[in-house]
Amino acid sequence: MSNPEKNILMLPGDGIGPEVMGQLRRIIDWLGQHRNFNAKITMGLAGGAAIDAHGTPITDATMDDAMRADVVLLGAVGGPKWDNLPFAQKPERGLLRLRKDLGLFANIRPAYVFDALVDASSLKPNLVQGLDIIILRELTGGVYFGEPRGIETLANGDKRGFNTQVYTTPEIDRIARVGFELAGKRRKLVHSVEKANVMESGVLWREIVSKIHAKDFPTIELQHMYADNCAMQLVRRPKQFDVIVTDNLFGDILSDCAAMLTGSLGMLPSASLGAADAKGHRRAMYEPVHGSAPDIAGQNIANPLATILSFTMALRYSFNLDGLADQVENAIKAVLARGLRTADIYSAGTSKISTSAMGDAILGELGK
Ligand code: IPM
Ligand code: MG
Repeated sequence: MSNPEKNILMLPGDGIGPEVMGQLRRIIDWLGQHRNFNAKITMGLAGGAAIDAHGTPITDATMDDAMRADVVLLGAVGGPKWDNLPFAQKPERGLLRLRKDLGLFANIRPAYVFDALVDASSLKPNLVQGLDIIILRELTGGVYFGEPRGIETLANGDKRGFNTQVYTTPEIDRIARVGFELAGKRRKLVHSVEKANVMESGVLWREIVSKIHAKDFPTIELQHMYADNCAMQLVRRPKQFDVIVTDNLFGDILSDCAAMLTGSLGMLPSASLGAADAKGHRRAMYEPVHGSAPDIAGQNIANPLATILSFTMALRYSFNLDGLADQVENAIKAVLARGLRTADIYSAGTSKISTSAMGDAILGELGK
């Protein structure tokens, strides 16, 4: 069987990014040596690391590498060191440029609870046991990118800050389709979330999603829900959901909420996908949902699992290597079942281990 080279760009970024990415690198190298996973890895800088080296949160050369890569694997960006930079030069702008220029409009954020970690959730175990939902967040539109935006000074000297929430028909159409397609492979239920009661962009969102549903996905169940109610329902009865499709800002907020249902942000991966080309390939970036956690950076205590699980999403969505993804995920489950935990998911009766020891343990399970 042919085994084409996989062109991977790794951007460890800032804070704990390099540490957790370092463990993922060991796993990719292991898969290369033992499972014939044929990867060509390019390293690059993003966020504060790129600002320090080049004065910009991502260089054009790194963007070129990202454009050419089959997948981009990102760690995390940002930190207090760069907090006071002008808005347009902040580390986060590097991440937003990657999303925008690569056209990664579909952000898949699963929230699932590992059996071994049921007690790590702040909700009662029966509410979250077996939880497996997806927040599908629109990632290149809405108020994050809408124009006009800015801070202006009014005639009387007062200031006025403003942003624009804006969605076009094609933007809603394509994210809705991804939502229905995802649900089709799962429990066939989509909740479309907006604020149509107060926002015109929400009215249009609801109208287009309904239209796509009626026309092309009649076998999927569709429910509409206001974003505030969705936040409430997520903590009240999270298992009622399957796929939640929503805009950029609501998706940002609801995905943090959904993430915490699982007990640790340190466990959750994400995939950001672009439109399929003629051959069905999508540009793709994979990253943990957690941030750069500067308070614990450099101490070898961060949880590398979200980053490693992001890579298993790459194996599934970009490389169609579900078998390899299963192997890595089973190794993680086995490690958790043995009671090994990084600090963020530690509880009494389990063993607290370091970032690198977690990497060792996963490699150990893979080799069994
Ligand atoms: C996320 C983050 C980013 C966002 C920040 C770092 C710009 O919160 O990926 O959810 O708001 O999209
Ligand atoms: Mg966020």
